[in-house]
Amino acid sequence: MSAVPEWKTIQLPYRLERRIFADDEVLRRELELVFKPSWLFVAFSSELPDAGDYVVRRMGRDSVIVTRDEHGSVVVLLNSCNHRGTQLCRATFGNSAHFRCSYHGWTYSNDGRLVGVPHLRTAYPTGFDKSLYHLRRARVTDYRGFVFATWAEDGPSLEDHLGPFRWYLDALLDFGGGEWEVYGPPQRSVTKGNWKVPTDNFAGDGYHMGTTHQAAFEQGIYGDSLASGTLGRKELELIGINMGTDQGHSLRAGYVVEKGERTVNADISEPVYLGYPEQNWPAFTAAQTPEQVRFNSRCEVLHGAVFPNAAYLSVSHDKAIGREDDPLTKYTVWRTHTPIDAHHTECHYWTLVPKAMPEEWKQRSYRFQARSQSAGGMLFEMDDFENFARIDSAVSGPVADGEPLDLTLGLGLGEPVPDFPGPGTAEYCTLSEHNQRAFYRRWGELMGYDGLMGAA
Ligand code: FES
Ligand SMILES: [Fe+2]
Repeated sequence: MSAVPEWKTIQLPYRLERRIFADDEVLRRELELVFKPSWLFVAFSSELPDAGDYVVRRMGRDSVIVTRDEHGSVVVLLNSCNHRGTQLCRATFGNSAHFRCSYHGWTYSNDGRLVGVPHLRTAYPTGFDKSLYHLRRARVTDYRGFVFATWAEDGPSLEDHLGPFRWYLDALLDFGGGEWEVYGPPQRSVTKGNWKVPTDNFAGDGYHMGTTHQAAFEQGIYGDSLASGTLGRKELELIGINMGTDQGHSLRAGYVVEKGERTVNADISEPVYLGYPEQNWPAFTAAQTPEQVRFNSRCEVLHGAVFPNAAYLSVSHDKAIGREDDPLTKYTVWRTHTPIDAHHTECHYWTLVPKAMPEEWKQRSYRFQARSQSAGGMLFEMDDFENFARIDSAVSGPVADGEPLDLTLGLGLGEPVPDFPGPGTAEYCTLSEHNQRAFYRRWGELMGYDGLMGAA
């Protein structure tokens, strides 16, 4: 590994340089200092039900095979032959006990051992040691079906990496009866734009909704969760809560409250789970702790980023595009934003549904997700991708780079949420870049970008 060169920064608190979204040298440094040592989400274990099942994903720029070996363990292998570097497995998914290189035929077992070298006895020096050429294996942890991997053999555990954010992941997964499934195969798309742009957007950007997605709201295609069911008989408003952790993870939640109310479900005698049929609510409540009930009740939207490049969104609305009669429905999507280069990002999307829900509801939830936030999404994804591409078009010039970008939205305006049921410092502030500041602060720490941010 060559030494990572130093690079100069403008050290203005709450400002970013444009070139962090466009510079190849910044990306090279990110791959070394952010992606290589971090825990990265690679797959759901449910994508690999049987021995030999595999999917091909990327950890930063490195192609990896995520597979279940013959002993039933999920392993993550560097997908590059140790002879000349050829990508070993080119299929996106499949089942195989071995991976045979297409160039000269070196063959690896699905636990990464080099087991076959053509003409080994006749054409190689005696004593050739195959064990020196096993595939590099990443360290793997499966957390409740979420498979994370890292190249840092002695780095922190996944639990330490998640820190307080684990409470929120559990709150999401304990909901709905406690068991979730990935519905349908993952979707994939490529967007013009740096990987940090969609991640920043998912971390906490409520600010863009009225502008970027204006058409969706004006045309009523998005529906209205406030007007639904019993909630519609009250005077209601949606309030935003932001929570960013030291590890760079974030959560932004929108709660339906009575006008002027500033507590998060102090009374949970009648929890409301927006987007799920009422007959399921008692079972959902029974499977959660009281704190989780307070957290999930009346939550209309929940989204955030899991540092460095995973994100999630859980949102309820009615009227999926073209279906006026669709009732209020929740969809939950897990995503990753992986750099292809400094200007292009590969996005993966997995739709998650509670196992306990009926098939008809799962299909509807999947349809809502696919029509708005997916590779073929007609609304939100295309609106957002257009802006991500426009950022890429305008940040590369030397003059543009000298003009700082602002990160002060909501700074000093958030009110503390003293009774918030989860850990971390949560604040009420519907429009805020609190979470983006947490993301870039952690990114800056790993990048050696000291002095970028002041205290939020
Ligand atoms: S590059 Fe794989 S066998 Fe030669
Ligand atoms: Fe958006």
